Amino acid sequence: MCGIIGYIGKDVANKIILEGLKRLEYRGYDSVGTATIDAKNHLIIKKDVGRIEEVNTKLNLLEPASNIMLGHCRWATHGAPTRENAHPHLDCKNNVAVVHNGVIENFLELKEELIEGGHKFVSRTDTEVVPHLVEEGLNAGLSFYDATVNAIRRIKGSYALAIISTREPDKIICARNESPLVLGVSDSGTFCASDIPAILPYTNKVIVLNNGELAILEANKFVIKRVSDGITLSREAKVIEWSIEQAEKQGYPHFMLKEIHEQPTSLRNALRLQEQYLDLIATFLDRGEKIFLLAAGTSHYACIASSYMFSKLARLATYPIISSEFIENYGESVGIDTVILAVSQSGETYDTLKAVDYARMRAATILGITNVVGSTLTRVSRAYIVQQSGPEIGVAATKSYTAQVLVLAQLALKLAKIRGKLSQDEIDELKASLNRIPEVVENVLETREEKVKAIAKKYAKEKLFLFLGRGISTATALEGRLKLLEISYTPSLAYPAGESKHGPISIIEDGVPVIFICPNDETRKEIIGNIMEMKARGAKIISVCEKGDQKIANLSDDIIEIPKVNPLLSPIPYIIPLQLLAYYIAIEKGLDPDKPRNLAKSVTVP
Ligand code: M6R
Repeated sequence: MCGIIGYIGKDVANKIILEGLKRLEYRGYDSVGTATIDAKNHLIIKKDVGRIEEVNTKLNLLEPASNIMLGHCRWATHGAPTRENAHPHLDCKNNVAVVHNGVIENFLELKEELIEGGHKFVSRTDTEVVPHLVEEGLNAGLSFYDATVNAIRRIKGSYALAIISTREPDKIICARNESPLVLGVSDSGTFCASDIPAILPYTNKVIVLNNGELAILEANKFVIKRVSDGITLSREAKVIEWSIEQAEKQGYPHFMLKEIHEQPTSLRNALRLQEQYLDLIATFLDRGEKIFLLAAGTSHYACIASSYMFSKLARLATYPIISSEFIENYGESVGIDTVILAVSQSGETYDTLKAVDYARMRAATILGITNVVGSTLTRVSRAYIVQQSGPEIGVAATKSYTAQVLVLAQLALKLAKIRGKLSQDEIDELKASLNRIPEVVENVLETREEKVKAIAKKYAKEKLFLFLGRGISTATALEGRLKLLEISYTPSLAYPAGESKHGPISIIEDGVPVIFICPNDETRKEIIGNIMEMKARGAKIISVCEKGDQKIANLSDDIIEIPKVNPLLSPIPYIIPLQLLAYYIAIEKGLDPDKPRNLAKSVTVP
């Protein structure tokens, strides 16, 4: 996830920005850049691909010394990690410099319009529209503030922006919508940054900017305004007592919990995909004879969930296969008519890349879904989608899983449309359900965490858990089990509930906890049967079910209720309490959920 920082004040800005960028490093980045205004009132831009120290050694970010500066570390989403795509971005006349974190949804329309108006673009980023929009206003004789506010009113999507201009070199204007942005004040100057740790060594007086607000920063003051109507808002600075380490986790004790709570945002970003890539991938999938969904670990469970979506929405059979088994199991069947959709958060998983390579050599079409632009998967794929979850630091995949499922759901819907399998009404209804998902997840996080914590306390000492689900909830059972297993080391099994009578039921005795995932879909009646079988043998039943499902509540020892959603999208909100359960059981057991033993975030070896 990109990080931005800005400073204006009495001190030399360069060192503050360089140190701030280093403290933003933990967010993950591929390139770095700074913008300052020199004594002759020229913008000086220094940027390149690489680590902060490398770029500093090459370009000397400490010169020329200035009292105003912006800094950026980039996590590529639109356009590969290259010098041209690194921030800051400029207008045509080098009067305006912009750093940005987020995704500008309508950048293609704006870019076309600006190019028609004579603007020259040098990058493939969404961000570059912003300096050109500000330039439009400046050309029309507006002040820096008016030109910027007009520009911001035209962009849609998520952004934390910081902008400087040679027209008014005594100001930084920054704005926020859905991407984090804080201001800081000290006796020496005024700051803005993506997060508190970046500025904490200089000030602990912090103001959080809200969505739809902008701030005009000067050396000794700041003004906050509402973007929509320009009204000035008053806001007191808060004194932050956190250590830098706590601040990196935004006050959460672990990255895993922070990332669980980031899901409303990462899901909103996953809804901002570029239509043309969705269209392209859906077209390739439509042309395939055999379609394999290739992935490992959590990404494999996202593929399992999506195979139900592809079948139910697009009437298309797809095969979710564990990467390490693919060549042995299906290798000989791969040919020019095969389409591989590889799903990998990191885009670097050895088994997935090996299977992809094998299929490529046999002329299969390779498609990818990943969280990392520039990863190997993006380089070997004919077309790919970036899920835009931002870096995931916790070893346990959480926000990347729900985003993968949401991306795959959009793909299934697109394919259904291309193949003419759904009516316009059905498509509209599903789209509305997709758009509601971030809100539902927000609600689950806000209202169910305490309940899950209590359940974790009650069952933390259990020696074994069984997770059961039917239909698409099989994926949720498998992923819930993986979360518990990997961070709390509790032996656990997960099965499609229909399989439980074919073996797993033999482990049930008095008090064994069985977690049922039971959204209100066409499998509900049968899963109720499975709950009764387990209950009759003494199992403790914990159900994740639809809010108000009295029948399931009556059969369960503990329930976690989820608001009503389209059953095909249930894997997203229904996994949230299971992520929290794994987290809180690990905490009860005194384990560090961010550092599970023997595991690496990305498995790049055979
Ligand atoms: O980067 P990938 O999505 O390819 O990684 C796949 C697995 O290694 C990963 O999902 C792993 O299972 C996680 N630790 C699960 O939480």
